[in-house]
Amino acid sequence: MSLYPLVRPLAFALDAERAHRLTVGALKLAPRRRPAAFPDVLRTTVAGLDFPTPVGLAAGFDKDAEVPEQLLGLGFGFVEVGTVTPRPQAGNPKPRLFRLREDRAVINRMGFNNAGQPAAFERLLDCTRSHGIIGVNIGANKDSADRVADYVAGVKAMSPVARFLTINISSPNTPGLRQLQDEGALRALLSAVEEARGGDGPPVFLKVAPDLSEGEPDQIVRVAIQHKIDAIIVSNTTVTRPLLKSRYRDETGGLSGEPLKPLALKALREFRAASGGEMPLIGVGGIATADDAWERIRAGACLVQLYTAMVYQGPGIARRIARGLAERLDRAGFANIAEAVGTG
Ligand SMILES: Cc1cc2nc3c(=O)[nH]c(=O)nc-3n(C[C@H](O)[C@H](O)[C@H](O)COP(=O)(O)O)c2cc1C
Repeated sequence: MSLYPLVRPLAFALDAERAHRLTVGALKLAPRRRPAAFPDVLRTTVAGLDFPTPVGLAAGFDKDAEVPEQLLGLGFGFVEVGTVTPRPQAGNPKPRLFRLREDRAVINRMGFNNAGQPAAFERLLDCTRSHGIIGVNIGANKDSADRVADYVAGVKAMSPVARFLTINISSPNTPGLRQLQDEGALRALLSAVEEARGGDGPPVFLKVAPDLSEGEPDQIVRVAIQHKIDAIIVSNTTVTRPLLKSRYRDETGGLSGEPLKPLALKALREFRAASGGEMPLIGVGGIATADDAWERIRAGACLVQLYTAMVYQGPGIARRIARGLAERLDRAGFANIAEAVGTG
């Protein structure tokens, strides 16, 4: 039985960022369990990595790689830590994290608060023999004079401890960062990343925003394929504001959770159409149930990730969605996840 229904009112009585710090603190006390066994139908290979289930934890929950193994122990098939930048940085002034309860959403303008890549590297050294897949999401420092150089430094610094790397150019909270998605800037960035990763580094994923204009997914896919990106993560938070009820709706920052779902799904479909199945896609944004995850897989995602729904549903969510996916595969007569990708 889950204790989360009892704990949630206490956590929700606290300021959102304090509640988050307490959760990470509690996870530190939890045993570093080996990930539980999952039904074989959920196993899937993407970019040469064998995922025990396609349900991962999205970046931003464990920014400093404090508890990745404990998170795997909750039943996630993979965990993405970060965003980590080359140098530590404090992020934006508080408050910068808001729960929009009526909307089952979150707005954040954290601004890449993190202890820097060397600190995360040390912690991850401890995990490299773990059986789970821990990826590292890298970004640029806010005050960096050369952002491309920051990504190159991140690739070099974190490759030895990352099962995959994510190039995050889609956070709305570092001014100008998302302009790296523009074709010319993206080409310069990804060619530098390609050179930095060398031959034997981990696979590299690219994380994009849901707020792209027509034609941009095509450009991004083209440049990503040219520079040997292994998968595209669709998507980060949105700067748009669909109809929201909460009093925090006008806070500046990226919106995640339920109201992001239709936008992220639409963006995924656009990337699927643009790539014709040639580029593996990872679906993120508003996934809260097995049906949501299934819909994303049928729309072309070979893996999914979530963050905000865990705030509302608690730590049992990864297992619940994995179980539900296994049932849906069975019902639809598919032998594995890969068979279902893009069939919707
Ligand atoms: C508080 C918070 C912090 C986040 N920080 C990061 C981050 O550092 N890097 C990143 O790539 N995405 C970050 N994200 C975005 C998530 O990884 C994810 O793409 C987004 O929240 C949509 O998924 P969701 O609706 O399941 O939360 C953050 C999200 C939240 C809510």
